[in-house]
Amino acid sequence: MDKDLKIPNHVGIIMDGNGRWAQERGMVRTMGHKNAIKTLKALCLHMADVGVKYASLYAFSTENFKREKSEVDYLMDLFITSFKKEFKFLIEKNVRVVFSGRREPLPEKVLEAMDEIQEQTKNNKDLVLNICLNYGSHAEMVDTTKKICEMYKEGKIALDDINEEFIQKNLYQDLPPLDYVIRTSGELRLSNFMMYQASYAEFYFPKVYFPDFTPEEFDKAILEFNHRNRRFGGVKK
Ligand code: IPE
Ligand code: IPE
Ligand code: MG
Repeated sequence: MDKDLKIPNHVGIIMDGNGRWAQERGMVRTMGHKNAIKTLKALCLHMADVGVKYASLYAFSTENFKREKSEVDYLMDLFITSFKKEFKFLIEKNVRVVFSGRREPLPEKVLEAMDEIQEQTKNNKDLVLNICLNYGSHAEMVDTTKKICEMYKEGKIALDDINEEFIQKNLYQDLPPLDYVIRTSGELRLSNFMMYQASYAEFYFPKVYFPDFTPEEFDKAILEFNHRNRRFGGVKK
């Protein structure tokens, strides 16, 4: 990639289209999830290489529990094997893994695998990988509000301490705002993904299903990002 290109500091990826990817190949939906892991491994390495500092990945929404039990169970097992095996290479690659989302009602084994990889990568510095698992923006607003109310009730903060910066610091993770949100598979919506953090993000909706979202596809997204003129409410430069 051209080294003069601007790289977004924080990229959000809504990894959508796994089911359709598999169905179009005459396979069961879960094969799409399995293939997404390969894609994701290559993508993580690539993002670290090109200098992305923060990447938020939408892995499972609070609403995804509405799916058939067999698909949810498959995904939970896939998360366990991913964090316990497939993604161990992140430890050496200086990638720090953190999670956003509600722990309830995730199975104990998934929580253990999450805690393990988070602990093993906690001192890494190159790329922060924020995995949104059992994540929803609405749930995050509720949980953040409750957390702040508790602090107020315990007398730890005054009403005037609550400002935009304070709310940002009390979200699931204290990360910089999203610069670029990519949703694969051609769907044009957020589906409850980081609504607060995406307030001034640029959006990109490639048609490819996530298992086909290769590093080359990511580079196309970066090229497009470089054609955007971000104004943040100011005037065009
Ligand atoms: C995204 O792919 C993965 C998850 C939501 C876990 P989908 O499973 O939503 O695939 P499509 O959108 O049905 O093709
Ligand atoms: C959003 O995709 C969630 C993830 C990619 C993890 P969905 O496939 O669940 O979203 P909808 O239902 O099409 O809006
Ligand atoms: Mg989908």
